Amino acid sequence: MNKSELVDKILELKKKRNAIIVAHNYQIEEVQEIADVVGDSFALSKHCASTDADVIVFCGVNFMAESAKILSPEKTVLLPEIDAGCPMADMVTAEELREAKKKHPGAAVVCYINSSAEVKAECDICCTSSNAVKVVRSLKEDEIIFVPDQNLGHYISRMVPEKRMILWKGFCPTHHRVTIDAVKKVREQHPDALLLVHPECRPEVVEAADFVGSTKGIIEYATKSDKKKFIIGTEMGVLFKLKKDNPGKTFYLLSQGMVCPNMKKTTLQSVYNALNEMKYEIKLEENIRKAAQKALERMLEVE
Ligand code: 13P
Ligand code: SF4
Repeated sequence: MNKSELVDKILELKKKRNAIIVAHNYQIEEVQEIADVVGDSFALSKHCASTDADVIVFCGVNFMAESAKILSPEKTVLLPEIDAGCPMADMVTAEELREAKKKHPGAAVVCYINSSAEVKAECDICCTSSNAVKVVRSLKEDEIIFVPDQNLGHYISRMVPEKRMILWKGFCPTHHRVTIDAVKKVREQHPDALLLVHPECRPEVVEAADFVGSTKGIIEYATKSDKKKFIIGTEMGVLFKLKKDNPGKTFYLLSQGMVCPNMKKTTLQSVYNALNEMKYEIKLEENIRKAAQKALERMLEVE
């Protein structure tokens, strides 16, 4: 099938299955184009919790599709590429977290949404990169165990210095590999551009930025700004919407290595296969799902 045939078939199947297609901002262009909603982790989890579709095709990585299933157990949630995972989410297990909780019995446990359902089930509350600071501020406990992203955790502790943050050692390979030398180099090349970065970047990179935010936050900031040039410090997938919505502006990627291989696995063909064969369905043990749901719903209540 060529691209337009594939798109037609996807739309046909979507109607037949009463499905919606949601895509993360890091997905390839063709996938973003056919999605009903494109957004950051927070926007997508909120959308999935409120949709009345029967089937959610989640074009993203495993923890995102799991989060949709946690919030909407009655829906069929499909992840088109079974191997699309998040290496950072795999850097903490429920067992390891239980051990850490024993060492800090009075601490609140906060997990980044980039974590497995089993890890979420061990936590008091979840957060995403767009609400992490608000979530931590909302807690009464002074001590917080934060998993798994050390860089996001570091950013939160800078923004909420009154809390004692116990940081896990996880990191996102795509963001963590970017060093301050890359910032210096690109700043020299484009001295009049603003630097917008994701909080998954190293602390010194975040420190050097003009704006820090989620993928959605970065896109909104650049779109609203009256400046014309931006250096983008997150995965290259965001460039699609940035360029489409801002034809008069120029965007430079902070580092050419900012590619998440797992986010690039999903194609139009895999979305078609997902809807046609109803695969790969996310299934969770009900006791895990319920415990994880508490942590996610508590996050959604934080305003
Ligand atoms: P956002 O919530 O900002 O979309 O980030 C998700 C993610 O995986 C970043 O690497
Ligand atoms: Fe995970 Fe990083 Fe990919 Fe986001 S960009 S899904 S944190 S590996």
